[in-house]
Amino acid sequence: MQYVSAYRYQVWMTILSHSLSAVFTVVSLPLIIPFFQILFDVQETVVEQPTSAMDIDGHLKYYFANILNTYDKQDALLIVCLAIIVVFFFKNLFRYLASYFITPVRNSLVADIRKGLFKKYLSLPMSFFTDEKKGNLIARMSNDVTEIEHSILNVLEGAIKAPFIMIGCLAFMIYVSPHLTLFVFGLLFVVVFVIGSISRTLRKHSGEAQESVSRIISHLEESIGGMKVIKAFQGESFQLDRFNKENIYYRDKLTSILRRRDLSSPMSEFLGVSVVAVLLYYGSRLVFSDALNPGTFFAFIFAFYSIIEPSKLIANAYYNVQKGMASVDRIQQIQDINNDISDIQGSAKLGELKNGIDFKKVSFRYPGSETDVLSDITLKIPANKVTALVGLSGAGKTSLVDLIPRFYDITDGTILLDNRMIQEYSIESLRKSIGLVTQEPILFNDTIKNNVIFGMSDVSGQDLENALQAAHAASFIKESEHGLETIIGDRGVKLSGGQRQRITLARAILQNAPILILDEATSALDAESEKLVQAALDKFMQNRTTIAIAHRLSTIKKADHIYVLRDGQVVEQGTHDSLIEENGEYYRFVQLQELQ
Ligand SMILES: Nc1ncnc2c1ncn2[C@@H]1O[C@H](COP(=O)(O)OP(=O)(O)OP(=O)(O)O)[C@@H](O)[C@H]1O
Ligand SMILES: [Mg+2]
Repeated sequence: MQYVSAYRYQVWMTILSHSLSAVFTVVSLPLIIPFFQILFDVQETVVEQPTSAMDIDGHLKYYFANILNTYDKQDALLIVCLAIIVVFFFKNLFRYLASYFITPVRNSLVADIRKGLFKKYLSLPMSFFTDEKKGNLIARMSNDVTEIEHSILNVLEGAIKAPFIMIGCLAFMIYVSPHLTLFVFGLLFVVVFVIGSISRTLRKHSGEAQESVSRIISHLEESIGGMKVIKAFQGESFQLDRFNKENIYYRDKLTSILRRRDLSSPMSEFLGVSVVAVLLYYGSRLVFSDALNPGTFFAFIFAFYSIIEPSKLIANAYYNVQKGMASVDRIQQIQDINNDISDIQGSAKLGELKNGIDFKKVSFRYPGSETDVLSDITLKIPANKVTALVGLSGAGKTSLVDLIPRFYDITDGTILLDNRMIQEYSIESLRKSIGLVTQEPILFNDTIKNNVIFGMSDVSGQDLENALQAAHAASFIKESEHGLETIIGDRGVKLSGGQRQRITLARAILQNAPILILDEATSALDAESEKLVQAALDKFMQNRTTIAIAHRLSTIKKADHIYVLRDGQVVEQGTHDSLIEENGEYYRFVQLQELQ
């Protein structure tokens, strides 16, 4: 409903068109009566116009008697046939108009749901993406949206149309014979009851099937990404088995769902025809006993026939909606997630960093995890200086720097930027002030140029060139066939590890932000390139608050201050020289490197 409200105008036009179409459907019903009267030669001599406006039957008989009196039988038939053509023309014209208005709404709804979902994905915190399987998120965007399109939106038109026709026909039937009309209500009750009992579990089963699709997509996505390892370790049959298990589960689930759903149409047709049979028997008896005129009875049958189709539509719609609601639920689950990492009211803007970043007794654990990865960290990152973080793998270095752009919020303690709590800054300004080189180069399947200027606007050619020079990327780009316009493949697979890293480095340099976070930014470079890049970086880091994580001594040595982390705690700190003198963890770390 929230999505539909934007298309109120079209929806009203559809409803209007359908109601007009229904009016013409109802008008078409009594047109049959004179036809039968002529054919079966029923003589009626109604000459007086009825006084009550409600006496439609009387009016019709009067007008028809008039026609018969004025023209001969042939002409009268022609007039009736022409009237039928005109009425059906308008009935179908409005039917088309209804589709004409509802089709763009349908397609826009699908597009809106997709966009809303993607926007939501973009706004969710990092922790969400580490918890959720990628395939699950992709499936919601592809399968669930398609499911909604097919099962709910496809029946939308029918669901709007059917009630109008049903109400119109029902009114006509009640008018003609309340007695016979009772049968129709009987049918509707039976249909609703039977369908309700069968489709009750449809939503649950559909949900399970969609979960299964998610797992299939996850598996596929993972396998494509890890193809090298699958081949190297000959894991093909292992992966295939895992895939097929899920595949078969989904197949069987879907079969049982569709069998249930497919019951709706034959079931309602059978019920419909059964009642028609009873109706024919009853109605004919009324005609024989002269209680009903045959033309009116045929019109009644025709009205009843007209009601079968829309009630089938409604029965189908009910089934399909039950099936699609599982997907709606799955999308709604995402929409309902609250983002804890958001701006407070009246948030401050972070511009230049003047003082520095302070961690005060900071503890952090990943959402859903039991143990702290950082505990009681107190450290100072002074503005416009280079601060290095050193420590064994898994010590918590990446986790620590991830707290600065608020990818995650801390569990305990405070982080201050220029003596103000980090939460008080707007996230946009905070992230804008940070240039980040992630530990794993993160690239998109696009041109080199677009990967470097990613998200930035108004980048001059000169700035781009300088950034690429500084990251020592200009030379290999020149050598590649299409230069800056070279497409680098999924996650940059068409580049070497070192080339990928240089692109991400150029991206951070180009951003020219006051805070620079380098997480192993030069780890994949050869010694010579690293030296060149380091020289360029040294220049770039002047007057910039830099946090560098590195294993290589050459990178750390020049830092103004070094923190040594172990098991999520700061165990040593100082300059390179003072830490060597301390003869502790750092000293051992340096010794190991110098042995190489
Ligand atoms: N998303 C996550 N969810 C739960 N635990 C995590 C997550 N990411 C990392 N960890 C855990 O946090 C700890 C610290 O990881 P972190 O990546 O910060 O280490 P690191 O010091 O950067 O190591 P390296 O030098 O290997 O990059 C590890 O024990 C790891 O298992
Ligand atoms: Mg790390």
